[in-house]
This record gives sequence, C-alpha cells and structure tokens, in this order.
Amino acid sequence: TKTEPFRNEPFVNFGIEENRLAMGTAIAKVKAGLGREYPLHIGAEKIFTDAKITSINPGNLDETIGYVSKADRDLAEKAMQVALETFETWKKVPAAERAEYLFKAAALMRDRKHEFSAMMVLEAGKNYAEADADTAEAIDFMEFYAREMIRLSGINETMPLTPVAGEANKLTYIPLGVGVVIPPWNFPLAICVGMSTAAIVSGNTILLKPASTTPVIAHMFVALMEEVGLPAGVLNFIPGSGAEVGDYLTTHPKTRFISFTGSKEVGLRISRLAADTVPGQIWIKRLVAEMGGKDGIVVDETADLDAAASAIVASAFGFQGQKCSAGSRAFIVESVYDEVVEKVAALTKQLQSGLPEKNFAAGPVIDAGSYNKILEYIEIGKTEGRLLAGGGRAEGNGYYIEPTVFADVAGKARIMQEEIFGPVLAIGKAKDWREAIELYNDTEFGLTGAFFSAVEERIEEALDTMHCGNLYVNRKCTGALVGAHPFGGFNMSGTDSKAGGYDYLLLFTQAKMTSRKL
Ligand code: NAD
Ligand code: ALA
Repeated sequence: TKTEPFRNEPFVNFGIEENRLAMGTAIAKVKAGLGREYPLHIGAEKIFTDAKITSINPGNLDETIGYVSKADRDLAEKAMQVALETFETWKKVPAAERAEYLFKAAALMRDRKHEFSAMMVLEAGKNYAEADADTAEAIDFMEFYAREMIRLSGINETMPLTPVAGEANKLTYIPLGVGVVIPPWNFPLAICVGMSTAAIVSGNTILLKPASTTPVIAHMFVALMEEVGLPAGVLNFIPGSGAEVGDYLTTHPKTRFISFTGSKEVGLRISRLAADTVPGQIWIKRLVAEMGGKDGIVVDETADLDAAASAIVASAFGFQGQKCSAGSRAFIVESVYDEVVEKVAALTKQLQSGLPEKNFAAGPVIDAGSYNKILEYIEIGKTEGRLLAGGGRAEGNGYYIEPTVFADVAGKARIMQEEIFGPVLAIGKAKDWREAIELYNDTEFGLTGAFFSAVEERIEEALDTMHCGNLYVNRKCTGALVGAHPFGGFNMSGTDSKAGGYDYLLLFTQAKMTSRKL
C-alpha cells in the first residue's frame, strides 16, 4: 500500500502453466476487441478525426490492432490552449492529491496487468516475459513517482534549509507549465506512463504524443487515467506525425518543457528547434532527451564464461535487440575469445523465432522501416565481420529477422558504432581486459554496459573507467529496475535524466525559495 516504502512489482513466472494460461486468456480478450477506433483526448472532448493511424501487429501483418485518430496542427493548438487553461487549476491541487491518481491507476493496472501485457504482445511484438516486465515497470513508475512527489512536498521537514535567526526560509518545488511528452514505441507502456505521470504528478499539464507504431497501448493508459478521475485537460492525448505535430509543439512559445525519449536524430532535432526563442516566449524551454545506445559487455579471462555468454545473448536479443539498453556489442579478451564466441553462437541458435502470442523467444521487429534498415546492416556486417548465427530474414507473416551474430568486428566498423536497434550482435577481440574497456568506451553513446570478471581490482577499475550511465558487473546490461537502477545515459545517449530515480521529478519542477522576516 501507499504508506509502505516503494517495492518493485514482481515479475510473473511464465514457467508456471497457470500463468501462461492466464496470459492466453488475456490475449484472447484483447483480440476480441481489436480493430476499434480511438479518439484524441483534448480536455473533456473525445475527437475522432478522418485521418487515422492504423496500428498493426508486427508479428501478423493481417491483424489490425486499431485505428487511432490523428491530430494536425490545429488540433495540437487546441490541445495546447486546453492544457494552458487546465494548468491554472491543476497546479493548485495539493501534491498528495495528485499522487493519489497515480496510486489508483497503479492499483488498477496491477489488477489488469495481463491485459496491458497482452496488448503489447499484439501491438509491439513482445513475448510474455518482455511484455510483463514492461507492465511491471509502468506500475513501478507510478508507485515511485507518487511517493517521490510526496517526499518533495515535505522537503522542508526532512531536509531543512540552514536556519537563520529571525527568518523562516522554505523551498517549494512548483510545476513548470505545459509539457510536450514524446515517448518511443519500444517500451510502449512503461516509458509512456513514466514520462507522462512524472510530469503530471509534479503539477504540470501535458500533451502526450505517443509513438505512431504503438498508439493503442498508449490509449489504454490514457483511458485508465480517465477512469481514475484525473481531471480533464491534465493529460491530453494527441497522436500524430512527429514532423508535423512534434515540430509544431517543439517550436510553440507556450511549450514550457519537452520530455522526449527516442532516437539521437530526433532528440538532436528537438534540441535545436527548442533552443530558438520565438515571439511570445518568456522562458528557456527545458528539454529532457533520452536517446540511443550502443551498449556492450566486456569479458575477461577470469569471468564465469557461461554466465557471460548467457548475459551477452540475453542483452543482445531480448525484445529482438530493440532496447536502448541492448548489448549490441561484446568485447572479449583473446585467451577466452574462441570459447565465449562459440558459446554465444550456440545459445543464439537456440532462440526460436515465431509469433509473440505463442511466446517464442524471438519475435518480429516493429515495422517495415526497421526491418529494412536492420537487414541492410546485416549486409554491411557481412563485409565487416564473420557471420556466426542468423544473417537474414526469418519465417513468418511479419517483420521477422534471425538473431544475428558477427565475430571479429573491428572497433571502428559501422556495426560497432551505429545503433542498429535490432537483433544484431557485433563481437570484437581484445588483447587484454584494459584494451577491451578502451574498445567499449570508443563510442559516441554511453547508456549501459557490463563487465564480467572475477578479479576485484579489475572490477574496481572497470567501475571507474567504463563511461556510461548504467554500469553493471557480472550480469546483463538490460533490465534496469525503477528505484534500484535509476536510468539514463551519457554523451549522445541523452541528458542522463535518471528515470526511476530520486533526481527525476526535479526536471519537471522549479524550486522556489521564500524567506520571511519574523
Ligand atoms: P524516434 O526518435 O523515431 O521516435 C521517438 C518519438 O519521437 C516518436 O513518438 C516519434 O513519433 C517522435 N518524433 C519523430 N519526429 C519528431 C519530431 N520532429 N518532433 C517531435 N517528435 C518527433 O525513436 P523510436 O524509434 O520511437 O525509438 C527508438 C529509439 O529510442 C532508439 O534510438 C532507442 O535507443 C531510443 N530509446 C532510448 C531510451 C532511453 O532511455 N535512453 C529508451 C527507449 C528508447
Ligand atoms: N530500462 C530498460 C532496460 O534497462 C530500458 O533495459
């Protein structure tokens, strides 16, 4: 309950038949409701537009998930006006009351967790465990940020300012204003929920523009917030084209902040556009931008090689490598190189591709654009490394690609440097563990990494020298937990906002100091 300290939502064990059956039932239920039309939510109005985003199942291209209304500039402007107006009342709602909406939504999502997960199985192509982890993280974000807002609102009691005789001094975290929230499709519930609820519980009103490949699961969240009674106009839902609606709102004078998670290219574009001030704008727009990764795992000769190989495969191929945290690179020292490479190739070949609803280990990638881009990178890989597993498309009525491993890839190779965002792993050889760390650090990104070794001094040095926002030892580099592993990256991986950490809500507030003479 909300009076207890935050705890992570446990993952469901799908090794147990009863749980598999429960997910199957939820999938059947979600399927029975596919193909519906979904509106925009602007204030209390639900607007169905003629133009629609058609969301399809990437694992079965004949299955339409839903038709989602599409905002244009005029509707985005209308949403902005509603959000501005609503901000005037929402900012006055006490923090504990705002937090209450998150606690309620978390409880309902927990009750219906398989339904949320089932929608992601169908709309995003996640297998059961990946979808369940996404839903668990969404619940975690709400439980965590609700408590965080309550903590921040009591900061004067827990962390008082330095006392000065004759003065009463106070620090209050007040909201910023209207924010534009732009999440990616790869954690279509968790990241959408985390970014949205952090901004809302801090007292802001938002314009949520979901990713165009996963708008139906985003709508399920919007409907949930409506169900728990979140006042109309606090969360406005405006799916639409990034180029049209995104650019319009990024350059809008009344946009106070932009919370973005997605690719480096789009993040840098938003950063550029948001930096220009326009007539009527009286602030510097705040930008939180979490971007791509080219994460990796370093293995030395003292490591548990089986554990390292499993971690490399899990990090590279979980959700088909479509995670910002995906371990798309591995650097292995010479003396154990062949052995680890062989283990990785063998484990990779065991991953079977197939329909997410049948819970295959490997599923489809998200859309035709990704599919073609990844297949092109695989062709590039064939000129840059030695193909050990996979290497092309896989069977199925969807965007299936074989889990693919290249060995003997040079540090400067394109498949070592560019984010592919698919099931492609590049392995490089190093003469020793220090060189392996150098190779790991040779990237413009800096999101996650992992170091495998049994030697304490090496681990200490790796903890110091591997330059990334989330660094793990003797485990995989994916799967950060809210509260335990605040998440965000260095360099071109973004602004290191540390989602799911104690610093996060500060990004959506401004601290006001008041000093009163007694
Ligand atoms: P993307 O950049 O293509 O799209 C992200 C969002 O931006 C989408 O909602 C999209 O519609 C929108 N968008 C596109 N053009 C826009 C514009 N001009 N203005 C405003 N919005 C615009 O990324 P994606 O394909 O959805 O997600 C994959 C990327 O996200 C990968 O690079 C991945 O590493 C990154 N990612 C990062 C994190 C992190 O925490 N660092 C987490 C998840 C994903
Ligand atoms: N938080 C997600 C992970 O760590 C991206 O895998």
